[in-house]
Amino acid sequence: MKTSQKKIILLGSTGSIGSNTLNCIRRFADKFKITGLAAGQNVTELVSQIEEFMPSSVYIANPEASKLLNEKFGSSLEVFDGDNGLESLVNATECDIVVNALVGAVGLRPTISALKRNKRVALANKESLVIGGDLIQELLNGGNGELLPVDSEHSAILQCLSGVKESVIESIILTASGGPFRNLGADRFSSITPDQALNHPTWSMGRKITIDSATLMNKGFEVIEAHHLFKLPYSQLRVWIHPQSIIHSLVEFHDGAIMAQLGLPDMELPIQYALSYPERFPMNGKRLSLPEIGNLQFLNPDFDRFPCLRLCFEAGEEGGTAPTVINAANEVAVKAFLNGKISFTEIGEIVAYALHNHRAVPADSIETIEEADIITRKTIHCNFLNKR
Ligand SMILES: NC(=O)c1ccc[n+]([C@@H]2O[C@H](COP(=O)([O-])OP(=O)(O)OC[C@H]3O[C@@H](n4cnc5c(N)ncnc54)[C@H](OP(=O)(O)O)[C@@H]3O)[C@@H](O)[C@H]2O)c1
Repeated sequence: MKTSQKKIILLGSTGSIGSNTLNCIRRFADKFKITGLAAGQNVTELVSQIEEFMPSSVYIANPEASKLLNEKFGSSLEVFDGDNGLESLVNATECDIVVNALVGAVGLRPTISALKRNKRVALANKESLVIGGDLIQELLNGGNGELLPVDSEHSAILQCLSGVKESVIESIILTASGGPFRNLGADRFSSITPDQALNHPTWSMGRKITIDSATLMNKGFEVIEAHHLFKLPYSQLRVWIHPQSIIHSLVEFHDGAIMAQLGLPDMELPIQYALSYPERFPMNGKRLSLPEIGNLQFLNPDFDRFPCLRLCFEAGEEGGTAPTVINAANEVAVKAFLNGKISFTEIGEIVAYALHNHRAVPADSIETIEEADIITRKTIHCNFLNKR
């Protein structure tokens, strides 16, 4: 390993962001070295990544797969699994940067472990911030850890805010493609199938975030994420639908000027920027040509057809454990929708039920957050899913 190489733990290496991150590491093999990898179930892909990147440690959620890795790689590889295995991987593995590309609430504990070790976290796992934003903020204020967004919208805002004083920001405007149902009539929403919802018009992503993009829950989560990252109240956070996904987000200043960051819809740039920040590394490939694109459109979101977006603003304003509850209810509901157990519109109904039947308390410990998460999941199963 060269001393100048930054050591990287990549959590969620077998997913969509994970594989894009590995492309970036391949491009800059002289600058980055993978020291740890973590995956859920896909042991075949993980084995081929271990053979290529030779990390010192890995985590796999599936215990059978963990045995197999131990047999195959012996003492050359430390293998973690089980409930606290992701934290153990982060705590035990040499690193400068932890890329968190896990999906769901499972991402919170390793984000916290990495920040406690004062590492840079390149955060794709927005659920960490949605449910643990207050805790994460406390760690950032009291330590030397660093949080860099991987989401293209927040990366865009970070780029627009370079050298800007917080006091001159009037609002942050997150753009959203609007998903596949941007123009669909409300009367047709209940018959939307998983295949239709998985067919995103501009982005290629994992299954859960693709459904969240179709309900606009993803944009709601990004609003909560922006609140924590850029320390703005919800009254200064807006969403514009922008079907072409070329402007990744905008910042409006108190003199009325607006700055935007533009690019083709491709996650490799925001991932690369979170690793190289504050430097910019070169990137080859197709360039954005606005004359080729021709038109850029913007619309206000329709909160009636997309109630999940409104629920996120509501939960964000309420604070405490309210965002944990919408995240947990949404994770359960999205899985049930993908398994054909509930309709598309029931996702929003279930999330609304969970939020409106929860009394939020301060989300000041990981145990409080996990308790709210577990109770919500149980409630949704008992009241909606066990009967189906
Ligand atoms: N995809 C995008 O373009 C995009 C853009 C912005 C933000 N994000 C955010 O990035 C995160 C990842 O999204 P994605 O689209 O990359 O998801 P994905 O393709 O579904 O990948 C998820 C990754 O997490 C792993 N995983 C799941 N459960 C796990 C567990 N219990 N323990 C360990 N690993 C586990 C999966 O492993 P296995 O596959 O091996 O089971 C996989 O490697 C999400 O929070 C998403 O909102 C994604």
